[in-house]
Amino acid sequence: MQIKVLTKQHDRKLFDCGTPELNRFLSRNARQADERSLSRTYVLTFNHDNTIMGFYTLSSTEIHAPSNSKLKNYPLPVPAIKLARLAIDKNHQGQGYGAALLSNALKKVNNAHQSIPTIGLVVDAKTEAAKSFYQQFGFIEMHKEEETLQLWLPIKTISQLFLKTKT
Ligand SMILES: CC(C)(COP(=O)(O)OP(=O)(O)OC[C@H]1O[C@@H](n2cnc3c(N)ncnc32)[C@H](O)[C@@H]1OP(=O)(O)O)[C@@H](O)C(=O)NCCC(=O)NCCS
Repeated sequence: MQIKVLTKQHDRKLFDCGTPELNRFLSRNARQADERSLSRTYVLTFNHDNTIMGFYTLSSTEIHAPSNSKLKNYPLPVPAIKLARLAIDKNHQGQGYGAALLSNALKKVNNAHQSIPTIGLVVDAKTEAAKSFYQQFGFIEMHKEEETLQLWLPIKTISQLFLKTKT
């Protein structure tokens, strides 16, 4: 198995995670968004096979500081990294690949933070089910009082994860 940047060689048309909007993004928009430096998509494949088992997309963003962060009264937008998409093909769901892609994304966020500070990884969960998927990994609500599907994982939590795996 490998996780690499999406290229023209990957077979984007066959992917089906059960959510048409995510399938469409992968087949029509993901490469173009990368070429325009808007976001980057990473795909999970078997070693030398171009069939996509899953993908995730990262982009940079600016947000109002989450109400549960130390920066909550900061008057300006703060920098964050956005997990813009995450999906696993229907044939491969429930086998730990979503967790593996998320962990790979967290590693990239941790590495990026060494060079360019970020307050953490944010995600707009599309459904309550997706929200509980992310919450299992420590994501917390960005604005608890509003009951939205916006979640974030503070950089401190992410960094600690990678400190732990080193020891
Ligand atoms: C959500 C999704 C990415 C999860 O990927 P996956 O490979 O099926 O999940 P995993 O096998 O890695 O599961 C990891 C853990 O999350 C749990 N989980 C998986 N899907 C879940 C869901 N929809 N809701 C809550 N928990 C979920 C699993 O039970 C597992 O927990 P465990 O380790 O205690 O058993 C995948 O099901 C998917 O692509 N769904 C359709 C698209 C989607 O909803 N994307 C998210 C948009 S924000």
